Amino acid sequence: MADLAPLDEKITLQELDRDPYPIYRRLRREAPVLRVKSAGRTLLTKAEDTRYVKDTPEIFSSDDPNTPMKRAFWAHTLMRKDGEDHKRERMAMAPAFAPRVIKEDWMPQYMRIAEQYVSRLPRGEIVDLFSILSGAYAARGLAILLGMPEASDEEMMEWSQALIEGAGNFGWADAPFERADRANTQIHALLDHIQERHRAEPDNSAFSVMLNADDPIEEKQIYSNIKIAIGGGINEPRDSLNTVIYGLLTHPDQLAEVRRHDHWEQAFEEAVRWVAPIQVSSRLVTQDTELRGFLIPKGDTVMTVQASANRDEDIYHDGESFNVYRDKAPHQAFGNGPHFCQGTHVARRAVGQIMLPMLFDRFPKMSIPDRDDVIWKGFGFRGPIQIPVLLK
Ligand code: HEM
Repeated sequence: MADLAPLDEKITLQELDRDPYPIYRRLRREAPVLRVKSAGRTLLTKAEDTRYVKDTPEIFSSDDPNTPMKRAFWAHTLMRKDGEDHKRERMAMAPAFAPRVIKEDWMPQYMRIAEQYVSRLPRGEIVDLFSILSGAYAARGLAILLGMPEASDEEMMEWSQALIEGAGNFGWADAPFERADRANTQIHALLDHIQERHRAEPDNSAFSVMLNADDPIEEKQIYSNIKIAIGGGINEPRDSLNTVIYGLLTHPDQLAEVRRHDHWEQAFEEAVRWVAPIQVSSRLVTQDTELRGFLIPKGDTVMTVQASANRDEDIYHDGESFNVYRDKAPHQAFGNGPHFCQGTHVARRAVGQIMLPMLFDRFPKMSIPDRDDVIWKGFGFRGPIQIPVLLK
């Protein structure tokens, strides 16, 4: 019988939150399978392992109703299901993410929103793009795609944060659940209110396609899918937009090249590789198994660190650097396997095709006056939480 993976009792969640990358680099070299006490999980930091785990749901299951997510979302959500149950709920939303629908329905809307939100930015001033642009742009687009344009940007952002923090409330403290409860109450009230309109005037929004399907999923799960999309569809486009802006503004040679050839989508892709907006995912081990010669016992929870996989030396040369023009290799920022991000193409287009070229066109001399004022944060989700930029 193989040994358990080594146990680390030193790494703290605070360190991981501040800057996990030097730690992940060391772990890839010294301990790619490591039980980390503070995280209560076995961390996997090599790309081969993270991909294998996500591609093997028979052993590494998403189906874990005992996480705080169920309490926070008032539902056992599709993100925490496997097999047919997962597939049925995911497929219910799929028509809203069809390539033609994205192109013909959502992209013109994102274009209109981008025009509006960029045109209200002040010129010649230093502004924090995090608070003034990135989150709001993601929130407005998502509200329309989901079929709930009545929700304000502030509501969407608050609900998203409340749900995420509730789902990550592994200490089962009261306050995060109470905040999530308020979000649930408000979201349910709005969805109840707009049901009739969606039944009378169906469109391609996620709520409409789920409600009006020939064989609809349970209403509770329709609401749960909408909440998953709210929780999963604002932070990541926001963080990826801030990250790519930082990457380009701190690498002027690359920016010049990107501008010359309109390589905005490549820049977006490199940004999500460099700093994955969702850095880690958890999977429950359903049978004794082995990874790199270590026993991974049934009942253990492994954490795939896609943030680390995306910088793995086996795949990338100098993966720690932002380089739009590096040799291409598939990254894992959007996940793998059955839970692969459903919003990938929306995010790529909304950020890479629409917002980036528009912003750099309107403010060609945009700059970051002081890099030290850019604050990065996050272990589960990561991006700049403050990015002061001079708009010129
Ligand atoms: C840069 C932007 C984004 C990134 C990096 C990202 C990343 C991810 C990742 C890594 C997962 C898989 C999590 C896991 O395996 O446990 C995921 C799932 C998901 N994402 Fe995204 N996401 C982004 C944008 C969006 C947007 C805009 C939407 C909605 C419009 C969205 C909707 C979803 C949904 C519904 C799932 C769950 C899929 C399932 O469980 O079957 N995402 N995302």
